[in-house]
Amino acid sequence: MKPQILSLEGVSQIYASRGSKGWRREYVHAVDGVDLDIREGETLAIVGESGSGKSTLAKMLLMLNNPTKGNVTYRGTRLKSLGAVERSQYRRQVQAVFQDPASSLNPRMTVEQTLSHVANRHNIVAKADLGRFLKEQLAAVGLNPPEQYLGRYPHQLSGGQQQRIAIARAIMLKPKIIIADEPLSSLDVSVQAQILQLLSELRKTTNVGFVIISHDLGAMQSIADRTAVMYKGRVVEIGRAIYQSPVHPYTRLLLDARLLPNPRGNRIRSPVPKQVTPTALSASTGGCRFLQRCPYAIEVCAAVDPQLQTMDGEATQVACHRAKELSAALTPA
Ligand SMILES: Nc1ncnc2c1ncn2[C@@H]1O[C@H](COP(=O)(O)OP(=O)(O)OP(=O)(O)O)[C@@H](O)[C@H]1O
Ligand code: SF4
Ligand SMILES: [Mg+2]
Repeated sequence: MKPQILSLEGVSQIYASRGSKGWRREYVHAVDGVDLDIREGETLAIVGESGSGKSTLAKMLLMLNNPTKGNVTYRGTRLKSLGAVERSQYRRQVQAVFQDPASSLNPRMTVEQTLSHVANRHNIVAKADLGRFLKEQLAAVGLNPPEQYLGRYPHQLSGGQQQRIAIARAIMLKPKIIIADEPLSSLDVSVQAQILQLLSELRKTTNVGFVIISHDLGAMQSIADRTAVMYKGRVVEIGRAIYQSPVHPYTRLLLDARLLPNPRGNRIRSPVPKQVTPTALSASTGGCRFLQRCPYAIEVCAAVDPQLQTMDGEATQVACHRAKELSAALTPA
């Protein structure tokens, strides 16, 4: 097994905002006690419906937010203990690709200026070799012939081409890991497939690791080594086989929802289960946070918050009191 590169230990992010009545502060537990290990060179997908805390998790990995509780560790060192020089090294090794490439590129800079700026700031190539280097970077992200693109401004590029530039800008620093928050969702469907293909090639050719947040379960199934499913700030299931043999009732709903037409666009919304037990309906707080929607709820679910547990002989972890029964029901007799 490859070594861990990033790990989260009991990480929480609580946002405070002014409440609807104006004077009372309200607190949102956007991420709530997440433990997660990310290994070198792996592609980890993070899926879950809107508001489940995916982007908040990404921001903590990118040091854009500090966790309210818990620690993010990079190769054994806590991010909060990094000095200025180590922070800047971390920011080079952990790169970001965002949803909307147009807003992540400076509209007043040509492709050449954008990429040269990064290359010069990090001193990654001698001045005499810069021209050749930039052409190689553009070719590596499928922009051929590269000369055609160097002089263009972002508005002279398609969305897919802009995203390729954003990826080139990240990959040219030879990062260890790229955190990509919905890198496909602003693109046309046909372009999404091309960008997915590019990411897939880059992971083979550069051995860079990815954390990819996406609502597109089909795309993630094709690219991810492991997938973490988030629900209300928690990871409720993580593993390699969540698409073929989902265990957590929420993962099952997500996968069922994939088959439903979604007229409201690109956010995952799960259907309400048909069968809800009386136990679930009389829910108290403090138990499983999926209780109200769960067709499998039993008494203990209302009282005890389920923690992630490793399933027998599988590289899967599930936070559900009935995980073993549900998993056994999946296994053919
Ligand atoms: N700056 C903020 N201040 C207050 N609440 C916030 C802030 N940012 C996010 N939240 C809240 O935290 C929760 C998690 O938000 P987050 O953006 O991480 O979700 P997400 O899973 O990325 O959703 P989406 O799929 O819609 O992008 C939501 O309830 C959101 O409203
Ligand atoms: S712990 Fe109970 S309520 Fe929560 S997902 Fe499992 S069966 Fe459903
Ligand atoms: Mg988000």
